[in-house]
Amino acid sequence: MSRVFSGIQPTGQPHIGNYFGAMRNYVSLGEQYGKNSIYCVVDLHALTNPAAFDPRLLAQRTFEMALANFAVGLDPSKVVFFVQSHVPEHQELSWIFTNLTPVGELERMTQYKDKAGQLESVPAGLLMYPVLMAADILLYKADTVPVGEDQTQHIELTREIARRFNHTFGETFPEPKAVYNKDALRIPGVDGHGKMSKSKGENSTLGLLEPLDAVWQKLRAAPTDPARVRRTDPGNPDVCLIFDYHKLFSDLPIIEMVNVECRRAGIGCVDCKKKLMEGVTVALSPIQERAAELAQHPDDIRDALAQGAKEARAIAAPVMAEVREKVGF
Ligand code: ADP
Ligand code: NA
Repeated sequence: MSRVFSGIQPTGQPHIGNYFGAMRNYVSLGEQYGKNSIYCVVDLHALTNPAAFDPRLLAQRTFEMALANFAVGLDPSKVVFFVQSHVPEHQELSWIFTNLTPVGELERMTQYKDKAGQLESVPAGLLMYPVLMAADILLYKADTVPVGEDQTQHIELTREIARRFNHTFGETFPEPKAVYNKDALRIPGVDGHGKMSKSKGENSTLGLLEPLDAVWQKLRAAPTDPARVRRTDPGNPDVCLIFDYHKLFSDLPIIEMVNVECRRAGIGCVDCKKKLMEGVTVALSPIQERAAELAQHPDDIRDALAQGAKEARAIAAPVMAEVREKVGF
């Protein structure tokens, strides 16, 4: 029997990269695996960025992240959906794993190097981030982890930690595998600066719940093929993030049309963006309507999260009991 686990950070508004890269797979795997699919708003992970040291904002973002996941179709009564800090076993297992993980291995993680490089003082928690992530997954003995490609290295470390624990204390954990949405491995940010990410701020993201006129303003300002200066210059869709987005949001005939017409300057960037916006509107409107309905009943969301934490703990507790015994606690 397979078990699915994935986490998402409440570090900002959920965006189309999260949606196509990960959240959509939560929904489809949720339909397949039911209560053996476990999803978590990872607020402990969010604390690795000092920008999260704002209790009201963190609580609000945690709530909104849950709401967004329910709005895209995840049903908390059919899957397990909870908030990481509500289940203290994550931290207990993380501590044990910390002692099975060489510091040098953590220092070589590319996400750590990227994020630490931008900070004057690096919190120890940022270094430990992938250890906590390994604990998140293995606490449920999950073997299937739907994520974007940016998490590949962390999943490999999780497998390594599982092997080390098994070798040291006896066979306990599976070696989990990442599952990707191959059409959305790494969605670019709308500002043109690398991967779309909450941690880069709202210039990078197209929010799932962002008002559509604000989405359009960002698309309008988005960079396209830099070699295409005048309307009459042919463009190259292969280097254009707008074309990447078309592949997510537009129907095949539109994608084909853009692919052909851009290359021969048959369509300008503004018209191409307007076409994209039609697809974006069709995709995001129902999600936003559903989110507005859910937001009318905030207590239902909080109740669902409390229930989810109970269900998660019921799975985690026997695993932790087994771990404690094996370690000698
Ligand atoms: P962010 O980088 O936006 O803070 P998280 O770290 O919370 O996102 O990741 C949540 C999930 O979304 C992870 O599975 C991650 O791999 C995926 N993800 C994040 N950004 C992208 C992207 N630009 N393209 C595809 N998947 C992404
Ligand atoms: Na990330």
